[in-house]
Amino acid sequence: MLDPMKEVRHAELRQFAKEMEEVCQPSRVRWCDGSPAEYDELCEMMVAKGTFHRLHPDRWPHSFACNTDPSDVARVEDRTYICSRKKEDAGPTNNWVEPREMKVRMKELFRGAMKGRTMYVIPFCMGPLGSPLSKFGVEITDSEYVVVNMHIMTRIGRSVIDALGEDGDYIKCLHSVGAPLEAGQNDVAWPCNRETKYIVHYPEDRSIVSYGSGYGGNALLGKKCLALRIASVMAAEEGWLAEHMLIMGVESPKGKKEYIAAAFPSACGKTNFAMLIPPAEMSGWKVTTVGDDIAWIKPGKDGGLYAINPEYGYFGVAPGTNARTNPNAMATIRSNAIFTNVGVTPEGDVWWEGLTDEVPKDVIDWHGSPYDPKKGGTVAHPNARFTAPARQNPCIDADWENPEGVPISAFVFGGRRSNTVPLLYQAFNWNYGVYLASTMGSEMTAAAFGEIGKVRRDPFAMLPFCGYHMADYFNHWLQFGRNLPKPPRIFGVNWFRKDDTGHFLWPGFSHNMRVLKWIVERINGEVSAIESPIGWMPKYDDIDWEGLSFERKEYDRIMEVDREAWKTEILAHEELFSRMYDRLPKEYFLLQQLLLSSLWRSPEHWYLEAERI
Ligand code: GTP
Ligand code: SPV
Ligand code: MN
Repeated sequence: MLDPMKEVRHAELRQFAKEMEEVCQPSRVRWCDGSPAEYDELCEMMVAKGTFHRLHPDRWPHSFACNTDPSDVARVEDRTYICSRKKEDAGPTNNWVEPREMKVRMKELFRGAMKGRTMYVIPFCMGPLGSPLSKFGVEITDSEYVVVNMHIMTRIGRSVIDALGEDGDYIKCLHSVGAPLEAGQNDVAWPCNRETKYIVHYPEDRSIVSYGSGYGGNALLGKKCLALRIASVMAAEEGWLAEHMLIMGVESPKGKKEYIAAAFPSACGKTNFAMLIPPAEMSGWKVTTVGDDIAWIKPGKDGGLYAINPEYGYFGVAPGTNARTNPNAMATIRSNAIFTNVGVTPEGDVWWEGLTDEVPKDVIDWHGSPYDPKKGGTVAHPNARFTAPARQNPCIDADWENPEGVPISAFVFGGRRSNTVPLLYQAFNWNYGVYLASTMGSEMTAAAFGEIGKVRRDPFAMLPFCGYHMADYFNHWLQFGRNLPKPPRIFGVNWFRKDDTGHFLWPGFSHNMRVLKWIVERINGEVSAIESPIGWMPKYDDIDWEGLSFERKEYDRIMEVDREAWKTEILAHEELFSRMYDRLPKEYFLLQQLLLSSLWRSPEHWYLEAERI
């Protein structure tokens, strides 16, 4: 525990905590020091309360599982607000309420909100301490679950307080589960507010207020709220990028290394891709992880782009993770992990759909009841997650904490599309790549409340995370590229294309290395490509097929650019554009027309015919 009077020299920060204490009226206040002892004490407290279940001490050392309230299982996009002074600055893709009005509403909600609870003050740093790219935050919360997750996900405690000094800048983050305890009232295992949830950002004040939810991005405010929504606003003002991207290193057999940043929407494969293990036949290729969810990217003095991962751990999707799909994730979560909304066996093992083929006997589902297959439903919630320290990842990059960041040589964008979009293509140039990222579509997943499976435009995988007007964000990307002497190459991928019977056409996972190899060879000018109406595409013979039987026929299907489907796709961009017509880059109308015109000239089933020409 930190003693604020003795150890916190930052008078304004002490004042902030004091004011929040007066409003929230907690029973006690605790300043977090970030020590292992603090982590253990809070975990024990949650075990005693019934929030945490200790897992098998040998098989899952120092690890816990917990279940949330069924109303609190994912981010709540319809309850997320960007309260900029002007409505136009939040733009058409964000919810907006006038900030003074929202502050009145929040003040009412927070008055006495922490009664009967402890108010924790968590000083944290997004990015390596001492990096010129890092930012400080202070989260005030009444949730022990948030404190222990912040221990894993960010750098917190004494070292941060020291680095903040007397007057360091920091982003104010206030969070409550919104479940005050009246005198004598017993707590529940997962306190939250079933009726009222608010995730509020004040971009001009650089502050965040979150009420009613204890889960993930709603409550761990350093992640989506600070590192994406607030940071994207700062990035636009200061000339850098805050992105929903993984960062990976790719080393060739010749020992040459490239770093690539890739944006996929929530639950569309960032963690899997960032930890990829190449198939055995592609010996000599190696992938290392810098980050799995967020990238902060700045131009360096040499004109290159340098990226850091502002996070310190992973908050990854559990279902589908197993020894085949992601062995590195399995190794990462073996100890010191927290599992949320997974199944637990009587022996103290965890289980989720896809971990093994068989549902284990007597498993307790995420509702906390014995699983009954006859009732339907799943053992784990589809958005069940693990929290684990990044340093436990066996393929962590040697430079993952380099304060200067790592040099980025390509951007990859990919959605979840069961049709239309091919496995791999390369944008003709920066502007075109920005257009393709802006118009990216993806089928909705369980990571947020919404209609699962429906295609929505998710520009740059940032739809839920851009803290300002989306069209201004597009302009920022265009302008950013104009200032780069050698902008990174931009690629599109889609692991999720399906055949008529609903099976994935592409084996994915480790085999995505085959795609990555072509990308790296293109970056280095080592391989030619064929020109399609939507970009440059690999020839069948230029993909490394060693150890995989994937026939030309299958390749033709997964690379197919169907003229009619693409006309529909490109016309569908209109729906996004018409919502932000006033600020949309003028280039976009031209690019859209160019795309349509090139489709007009192409064979009906492009690819199949093109490679033969
Ligand atoms: P957030 O943490 O929500 O931002 O998501 P993420 O992009 O990190 O998601 P993650 O990597 O955890 O994606 C999980 C989902 O993607 C699971 O359903 C996986 O099975 C699926 N997935 C990942 N890679 C592949 C792939 O190559 N092929 C297929 N078919 N599915 C994949
Ligand atoms: C996402 O939804 O993109 C996540 C999970 O990474 S959460 O932190 O809950 O937003
Ligand atoms: Mn994410």
